[in-house]
Amino acid sequence: MEQIHIRLFQPQDLSSVIHINRTCLPENYPGLFFMSLYESFPKAFIVAEDIETNTLIGYVMGRVERGFSSLKGYKLTKKGHIVSIAIIEKYRRKGIATRLLEEALEGFKEYGASESFLEVRESNIEAVNLYQKIGYVEKKVLPGYYRDGEDALLFTCPL
Ligand code: ACO
Ligand code: ZN
Repeated sequence: MEQIHIRLFQPQDLSSVIHINRTCLPENYPGLFFMSLYESFPKAFIVAEDIETNTLIGYVMGRVERGFSSLKGYKLTKKGHIVSIAIIEKYRRKGIATRLLEEALEGFKEYGASESFLEVRESNIEAVNLYQKIGYVEKKVLPGYYRDGEDALLFTCPL
């Protein structure tokens, strides 16, 4: 995977990231939402670029939220929320999502987060396996979390 570069999102990447998001996931967002995450938490918005074709092939974006720890009782803490991640289909299963997530988790740490969390469709085996492999643990089911009624699994992981 020598030709894949992992780097921080830049504003000129916006249309490519929106394209990847719409191609890969039913959860889509307006451009301003992507830009507000970038403006607030640039170190947690990472992209993968194929430098041979000069195209973006994946992204991960997140934000740091204050809330009660999922791992340490009722302590208030900063938590890095993985909001969305996707890799274009033909580049999957090459470890790229793993590299993106590792970078985003480093970014969360730089913002002072002590744990991370995310929601994933219970039927999304690929993503569930990815998160478990990285060290996330299933915390609870969020019934009917998605617009089509599917349940989410809430995953958490210490940083
Ligand atoms: N089947 C089973 N396990 C899989 C699969 C698969 N098709 N793909 C990935 N995994 C698991 C494996 O454990 C894999 O490790 P291994 O290859 O050593 O067995 C591990 O994940 C790491 O795989 P990567 O190659 O790093 O993951 P990839 O770059 O393929 O991206 C992703 C995974 C992001 C889930 C990709 O399939 C994708 O874009 N799917 C569509 C979008 C999506 O579902 N995003 C997540 C939604 S939830 C959220 O965004 C918070
Ligand atoms: Zn979420």
